[in-house]
Amino acid sequence: MSMPSPRAGRARERVLTMRGIGKHFGAVKALTDVEFWVDAGEVVALVGDNGAGKSTLVKVLSGVHAPDAGTIEFDGDPVEIHTPADAQDLGIATVFQDLALCDNLDVVANLWLGRELVTEGMLDEVGMEERTWTLLRELSAKVPSVRIPVASLSGGQRQTVAIARSLIGEPRVIILDEPTAALGVAQTAELLNLIERLRERGHGVVLISHNMADVMAVADRVVVLRLGRNNGEYNVADITSETLIAAITGASDITMRRRVEDAARRAPAPEPVAVMDDDETPAGIIRLPEGRAGRTRRAPRGRSGA
Ligand SMILES: Nc1ncnc2c1ncn2[C@@H]1O[C@H](COP(=O)(O)OP(=O)(O)OP(=O)(O)O)[C@@H](O)[C@H]1O
Ligand SMILES: [Mg+2]
Repeated sequence: MSMPSPRAGRARERVLTMRGIGKHFGAVKALTDVEFWVDAGEVVALVGDNGAGKSTLVKVLSGVHAPDAGTIEFDGDPVEIHTPADAQDLGIATVFQDLALCDNLDVVANLWLGRELVTEGMLDEVGMEERTWTLLRELSAKVPSVRIPVASLSGGQRQTVAIARSLIGEPRVIILDEPTAALGVAQTAELLNLIERLRERGHGVVLISHNMADVMAVADRVVVLRLGRNNGEYNVADITSETLIAAITGASDITMRRRVEDAARRAPAPEPVAVMDDDETPAGIIRLPEGRAGRTRRAPRGRSGA
């Protein structure tokens, strides 16, 4: 597979490489021979139709599913990711769509849950709160208070807290699964800004999204999966969303043109031969679409009435 240069033209450091990844569930081949890589300081969008294999690929990376085939390299070394803890230790953080926050706990508690700072046997509440604010400021995040339960935050703010939480271990790669799916227009814009902050901090960001406008706005590179296989890989600067949609649906310009030409060859436009009442359509006569009701024409040879 060719490797296009990044949008900004800067050389970037390769963090993660997946090669020949395969994964099946019973008879379902979710992934076949998939190639995927992430550089430091780039946003890679992973796109594809429902069932294309995006979540499965990300779950292989985050230690949820073991692949049946293929290799993963992290910082150039071959690695095996058997559990979510393995992924976390390597520096791969995933923000799943359900965010997995504890609604009754405040922002600080959510960020440090399971990784609390302790000094002299006591929870370092002040230290955790200070570092929470530092992190949120770095992300230009708009959260009113870090001492309110996350249940009282908006969808966008909750998403921000989940992303800030994923940054506590300073991961090299952050995977965001459909982060804007439940957000309004303004919140989406803020989240895209936040993704840009992550890129500036040098993280490699993997963005799963069905929203082509978001992808075009924030990604450097797009990897398309279709039916569990790679179906294109583009620099965003070089393409339009039409190119992406064609790759996602499997319809390139050439195949679309061929389909139109084939259809025209099979069914040459016949001359209208009869005009009659709507409810008297004899066999061999095609009823025209609505708006031309009452007019009918004879079907081409070999076709019966519609
Ligand atoms: N745990 C599982 N058990 C059985 N089949 C699965 C499992 N997870 C995924 N699949 C199948 O693998 C294929 C890929 O699914 P996957 O969830 O990766 O797609 P996706 O690209 O994330 O789709 P979507 O956009 O709908 O989230 C689908 O056919 C799906 O039904
Ligand atoms: Mg999915």
